Amino acid sequence: MPTAQDELMTSLDLSWIRSQFPSFAETVNGYPAAYFDGPGGTQVPQRVMDAISDYLKHANANTCGAYLTSRRTNQVIADARAAMADFFGCDADEVVFGFNMTSLTFAMSRAVGRELKAGDEIVLTLLDHDANFSPWNALEERGVVIRRVAFREGDCTLDMQDLATQINARTKMVAVGYASNAVGTINDVKEIVRLAHAVGALAYIDAVHYAPHGPIDVRALDCDFLVCSSYKFFGPHMGVLYGKREHLKRLQPYKVRANTNEIPNCWEWGTLNHECIAGITACVEYIASIGWRVKPSSASRREAILAAYGEIVKYERALCERFMQGLRAMPSVKTYGITDPARFDHRCPTIALRAESHTPLELATKLGDHGFFAWDGNYYALNLTEQLDVEKDGGFLRIGLFHYNTVEEVDRLLKTLGEIVAS
Ligand SMILES: Cc1ncc(COP(=O)(O)O)c(C=O)c1O
Repeated sequence: MPTAQDELMTSLDLSWIRSQFPSFAETVNGYPAAYFDGPGGTQVPQRVMDAISDYLKHANANTCGAYLTSRRTNQVIADARAAMADFFGCDADEVVFGFNMTSLTFAMSRAVGRELKAGDEIVLTLLDHDANFSPWNALEERGVVIRRVAFREGDCTLDMQDLATQINARTKMVAVGYASNAVGTINDVKEIVRLAHAVGALAYIDAVHYAPHGPIDVRALDCDFLVCSSYKFFGPHMGVLYGKREHLKRLQPYKVRANTNEIPNCWEWGTLNHECIAGITACVEYIASIGWRVKPSSASRREAILAAYGEIVKYERALCERFMQGLRAMPSVKTYGITDPARFDHRCPTIALRAESHTPLELATKLGDHGFFAWDGNYYALNLTEQLDVEKDGGFLRIGLFHYNTVEEVDRLLKTLGEIVAS
């Protein structure tokens, strides 16, 4: 008999995918754990754990020494740069590792700020996570003018007309998110990069939320920088930045004198987290391995990654449609962002909602008791929760759907959520 999972007609092999993640065996009060908290950090396949512990067993050392484990460490880092270059569609020397997206963005905004003078302008958006807002906003103290682009409250999409008006001859940087971590909106970043370049400004893309949900091609976007965090795409807690070679070479990072002036190392401060860097290669390999399974003829790791995302996008969209359809049967639940299924290619399957009867924290707690892991609050998308006036009473409950979630999990979540909001 066909199951609900079969109805979705995906070529993803869900039972193989789920077998990769040891944490899926977790239970809460006798209920199986269901992870809808991926926007705050995804689960990690076994191969990532193995890569981290193998590094510590066989290669644990600092870099550039004249002995075996140090040489292995250099190789581990080189392999991870090559993996991330395949992930971004760039060259390995354009890949910078860092503690997380926030610290990479503070570092880059300090370096960009060195070139700016009073009266220069930076364009930011109110849809963005604060990590792509505050580091740039802080340049106000140097006399830089910060312009803030609004979003439409009805569907939480960026007001592109406002954005086009705010970009002008004084604009030096446009910093914008690829997708909203709160309401899922995918922005037209290619067009935004074009508008920035038309006035000679740089474009900095926060792809943290988008990275697990869709393919990234920095050359096609023509962005100057793009940053993401591997813990959001099945890897360890680290940040990774792509920078166009010419900018990484020209801009002056704040750094210690002993650090090399070569890119990308001059952007990487102190000793990196080598074991996590080993894990980054493994998470990229995990995504590629999905691609090899759906398209065995993939001629390269990059092609396999793109093949994987081709299927992930379709499957996640079907999950999102099913979940949103179930929500429509709950009149006391309000969802935010794009709700028209015909426009779902402009959103990630990240759903922010509120219920009349319960605060977001109450919903998250009750769901958590039933094994459903989901975030409540503002997730640092502070301008958004303030503008929508939900900051003062708990923000949203956020359900993040990922390729590793099943139809059965979504249906169980809908049933339990329905019972909670009716109680
Ligand atoms: C869209 C977005 N940007 C930036 C960040 C910050 O990333 P990190 O924790 O790597 O600093 C997050 C984290 O949730 C995010 O969702």
